[in-house]
This record gives sequence, C-alpha cells and structure tokens, in this order.
Amino acid sequence: HTNTVAQVLNGGRIPELEPIEKAKRLAAFAAVDKFVGKDCKIIGIGSGSTVPYVVERIQSQGAEVNKDRIFLPTGFQSKELIIQAGLNLGDVDQHVRLDVTIDGADEVDSDLNAIKGGGACQLREKVLAEAADTWVMVADYRKNGTVLGENWTQGIPIEVAPFAYAKVMYDLSRLGSPIKSDPSVSGGKILTLRMGKAKAGPVVSDNGNFIVDAPFPREMMKDPKGLLTKIKLMTGVVEVGLFCGLAKAAYFGNEDGSVTARW
Ligand code: 5RP
Repeated sequence: HTNTVAQVLNGGRIPELEPIEKAKRLAAFAAVDKFVGKDCKIIGIGSGSTVPYVVERIQSQGAEVNKDRIFLPTGFQSKELIIQAGLNLGDVDQHVRLDVTIDGADEVDSDLNAIKGGGACQLREKVLAEAADTWVMVADYRKNGTVLGENWTQGIPIEVAPFAYAKVMYDLSRLGSPIKSDPSVSGGKILTLRMGKAKAGPVVSDNGNFIVDAPFPREMMKDPKGLLTKIKLMTGVVEVGLFCGLAKAAYFGNEDGSVTARW
C-alpha cells in the first residue's frame, strides 16, 4: 500500500492537524469529491499549503484510476508533490486543455474573484486556471471574504521582469498604490518589492522574476477586473495575481468542521 502525501511529507507519521489545517483538508477533500471524477484525465495541481490535501484525496482514489491520469503542476512545490505521490507528471506544453485544476487562494470575494500569488506562483497558476474546463479554489475560512484586499494579503502580487521592477513600481504608485501608509488602504499596507525571508534579496519566482506586492484603496479593490486590466498593460508586468471570472466554485473549510461551497 502507498503512503498518503501527508505521511510522506511528515516522515511517515500521520500528523496531528491544527484547526486551520483541518479546515484546509476538509475543503480540499470536498472539492476533489465533487470535481475530480473518474473521467477526469488531465488534472492541474495548484500551489500552497492546502493543495497537499488535494493530492492526498486524489491519491486515495487509488492507483487503478490514477494510472491513466496526467497531473500538471503550477510550480516547483506542486511538481514535487506529484512526483512524491507517485502520480504521472506532465506539463502544459503537452496538454493545453485540462479537465480540472484545483488551487488554493489568498483571498476570495463575493463574486469568486481572487487574490493569488502568496507563493509567487500566479503566472503558472493562471495558465492552468485558464486552460482548465473547470477551475476550483480550496481554502480555509479565513480566505472567504466579500471585497479583496481587506485582510490577509500584502496587496496584489504582481510578477515583474527583474530589470523593470522600479519602473513598474513607479507605474503602480501613479495608479494609486501607496508608498506610505494611507487611511484609504486597508491595514495601512504599502507598495513593496517582496524580499526573501533573510531580507538579503528579492524573492525570485519559478520563472526567474521578481514579485511586487501592490495594495490599493478600497474603492479601487471593489473593481478587481478594471484594476487587473490597467496593471496588465504596464510594460514589465509578467502576470497579475488577480483572478477574475475564472472560478467555477470555491470551497472553504470552517472551524466547526463544515464546508462552505460557493459557485
Ligand atoms: C501561491 C498561491 C497559493 O495558492 C495561495 O497563496 C494559497 O496558499 P495556502 O493554501 O497556503 O493558503 O496563490 O502562489
């Protein structure tokens, strides 16, 4: 018999899950049960700390059904997850259409628009979201919101070509992202070049690019599609961590053990 991904990641021991982890796992299991049927053959696996539970549930569907499937990753982490789970690895240059992609989210609004890119994977995540017939988000209850930017994130994660980061940050500040604390912006967040944990240098994405985290005033965040269009037009921007009009559904695990499904 095979180990679950959680066991593999935990050195063979089944982990005691914290309440937040339980919530993530509930959401992931419910989404897989609903959207990853036996007929799904090409499956996208997103990034973040909720996605290992997606892989765990898919793995539990059994080797027989999984042997005829191909799994496409949204980044280094999910590639490793797929390999460690003994699932077949593919890439989007071989399969431009997927049956389903399941991914995490940093914040979700009442229209199922989302902020993503907490793990700097938003370019590949969006490619696999757009290429999928069905794109579903899974998260714990903290991500279930009404307007984007109200909590949690440092702003909209924007992947930029390294040599152009200062120019793009200037463009973003002109658009309205604050360079000093501003009461119209939730949490007093400011425009930032994302730095690595040791602050010794910028975070570099799987694609070799930098990440700028850009908060915006509440009024602007109420129109994520409009904001996305403006930011995408800035030369030097590779991809924007705003996902608008892509999700079929979002599943949120709750503290009380229930799951909220929105579509
Ligand atoms: C990575 C992402 C993740 O999906 C997002 O950050 C959510 O992660 P988690 O499941 O750990 O909350 O967008 O770029």
